[in-house]
Amino acid sequence: MSRTSDRTKHDNTHHSHTNHDHASDVLVVGGGVIGLVSAWRAALRGLRTAVVDPDPGGGAAQVAAGMLAAVTELHYGEETLLGLNLASARRYPDFVAELTEATGHDLGHRACGTLAVALDADDRAHLRELHALQSRCGLESEWLSGRECRRLEPMLAPGVRGGLRVDGDHQIDPRRLATALVTACERAGVVFHRQWAQRLTVVRERAAGVVLADGTPLTADQVVLAAGSLSGRFAGVPDAVLPPVRPVKGQVLRLTVPDRYAPFLNRTVRAVVRGSHVYLVPRANGELVVGATSEELGWDTTVTAGGVYELLRDAHELVPGITELPLTETRAGLRPGSPDNAPLLGPTDLPGLLLATGHFRNGVLLTPVTGDIMAEVLVTGELPDEARPFAPQRFGATAPVPVELPV
Ligand code: GLY
Repeated sequence: MSRTSDRTKHDNTHHSHTNHDHASDVLVVGGGVIGLVSAWRAALRGLRTAVVDPDPGGGAAQVAAGMLAAVTELHYGEETLLGLNLASARRYPDFVAELTEATGHDLGHRACGTLAVALDADDRAHLRELHALQSRCGLESEWLSGRECRRLEPMLAPGVRGGLRVDGDHQIDPRRLATALVTACERAGVVFHRQWAQRLTVVRERAAGVVLADGTPLTADQVVLAAGSLSGRFAGVPDAVLPPVRPVKGQVLRLTVPDRYAPFLNRTVRAVVRGSHVYLVPRANGELVVGATSEELGWDTTVTAGGVYELLRDAHELVPGITELPLTETRAGLRPGSPDNAPLLGPTDLPGLLLATGHFRNGVLLTPVTGDIMAEVLVTGELPDEARPFAPQRFGATAPVPVELPV
């Protein structure tokens, strides 16, 4: 067992190891932003760490819009999750500074704030309720009239009936975040195995490593399952500890704001239109991300005419000028949904197997706090207090997720 305080304190030589013996202290299954941040933070704490993923930095972060929206994405019944979301939002500026310092990458972090608007009387009532919930939770948001909304964002439709200004909900570019995390991991000595993990190996009732798709066995003292929506179907994981994570499809559009229209929007603008959430996230580089559908369709990542139509229709109701912009990309990704919409973090009942999955709508937002939590539990064996409500055991023994597997 290599979780020694000695290494943590003063042995940095392990950062450049080559891992010829295919053994490590920590093996992370999944190289999305959650797996990468866990690996980076673990390596910085002195653990010999490896990541298994055919395409590190890929996954849902390639689709996500990157809203850091702890306040505007608050939902009834998710007050516990709110605490974790806020903790991560508070860490974001330092996290971005540290990751930028470590890699030299610009992460597209933009402290632009968010405006949630209402288009009709029902939307307005919904937003008023959200405002009341935010106030009860001690969150900062300001109610604006339709005219005040349009003064802030002149491209908004004349019919906007009011809105909530939340200056603390920012954005980051998840693709840049993922790329930077790969670089940071490499620089911290994390070893990448660029192929699929075929199955978990369990030896004497303890997670002992994984077998790669080409049959190579890897061993590790601790295995972190951070495979996003795939986490619920990883072979070899005993049913009782298999995380109840399912894929929730999101279709997202990317448009480009030509210089002559800039600034098209100054901040993230969002609304609930006929019960569906739509958001427009304007990047500093002229990209405008429009999302997102939320569909329970298993492993389907087809971009559909209906999905694109609904997003454009709703976005057009909010910001009519959007139809002038070039549409540059359409894509669908899979959020890792959990039964209470909150992540599963920390040790399972199978010794040696930990989870960092189930982040659902908040994977990008929760990246900094997840890295800190996972590094702490990997080094000390203790789950930090802030993570206790998110321990995997809260769901009890779980059955395999009843979804169709891709062929
Ligand atoms: N957090 C935005 C989404 O999941 O669509």
